[in-house]
Amino acid sequence: RRPAGAPDKSLARPVTKVGIVGAGLMASQMALLFARQLKVPVVLTDIDQSRVDKGVGYVHDEIDKLGAKGRLSPDGVNRLKALVSGSLDKAAFADADFVIEAVFEELGVKQRVFAEVEAHVSAECVLATNTSSLSITEMAAGLAHPERVVGFHFFNPVAVMPLLEIIRADRTDEATLATAFAVGKALRKSSVLVKDAPAFVVNRLLTRFMGEVVAAIDEGTPFEVADRATEPLGLPMSPLVLLQLVGAPVALHVAETMHRAYPDRFGVSENMRRFVEAGKTAVWTWDSAGNQSVDPEVAALWR
Ligand code: 3HC
Repeated sequence: RRPAGAPDKSLARPVTKVGIVGAGLMASQMALLFARQLKVPVVLTDIDQSRVDKGVGYVHDEIDKLGAKGRLSPDGVNRLKALVSGSLDKAAFADADFVIEAVFEELGVKQRVFAEVEAHVSAECVLATNTSSLSITEMAAGLAHPERVVGFHFFNPVAVMPLLEIIRADRTDEATLATAFAVGKALRKSSVLVKDAPAFVVNRLLTRFMGEVVAAIDEGTPFEVADRATEPLGLPMSPLVLLQLVGAPVALHVAETMHRAYPDRFGVSENMRRFVEAGKTAVWTWDSAGNQSVDPEVAALWR
């Protein structure tokens, strides 16, 4: 069944090579998924060689794990590894049909990345963004071909979470959208078309939800109580464990975007800001017996 609002699939263009800008947590998980499901070359870029090497190293290690679990033959491991490479030079995207960025969550940074990529790719190459919350229309503004820009928002862990939000910007054309849906299908994701609104759909819900848990802690509810209070909802992870998976800086950025868009509905916790500025990544620590407790340094940050 065609997802609501999905374009005519006959307009989709073939994708024979993928470029990924950024080689961090989401980008390297995406590289593995693209290579594994589309079976096309995937090139990762980043701002320095050590980041590129780390991203490619992560993907190659994950491929080895698939081999060790018997999910890929030794030959399959080698073939899949050969598809994933890194480069510091965006000229490596010259023959890519689909480039996706997953760099720092700031509009200016993402606009600069797209402008740089545009200088190296054909006019028809799709420029996709994995932004969590920023405006796709603003990201496309200023490009020579804004019609090939589309939002393509994955959820962490990328290999496991089935949903993909596809976001149409004001000027996204039907062929770009059709290509995005075709790629989503090839990646075996359930694609939904969502509006270009702050944080789209999933993250506005998640931000509200996590924001209320943090607000309860800010008001004096113990961490344990606020986090456990979500148990009856049957979520696969408690909100503060999810915070660790998503990355606190990313969650803070989304909260800030939501606050700017809807100040009456979304707040930003000063404690959460201190937590991120202190470079902390997790509220919980686990001892060797598996007992969970709040990291004392985090507790000391909360006022
Ligand atoms: N990376 C890659 N794969 C992972 C993983 C990770 N971090 N964590 C788990 N997996 C894989 C496991 O390898 C396993 O795969 P297999 O069945 O092929 O062997 C599978 O997931 C299930 O793992 P487990 O059995 O160990 O664990 P669970 O059943 O507890 O599932 C979970 C783990 C899927 C992470 C589950 O806890 C979950 O769904 N958590 C909620 C995640 C969520 O809500 N993500 C959305 C975050 S929002 C976001 O990303 C948007 C951004 O813009 C902020």
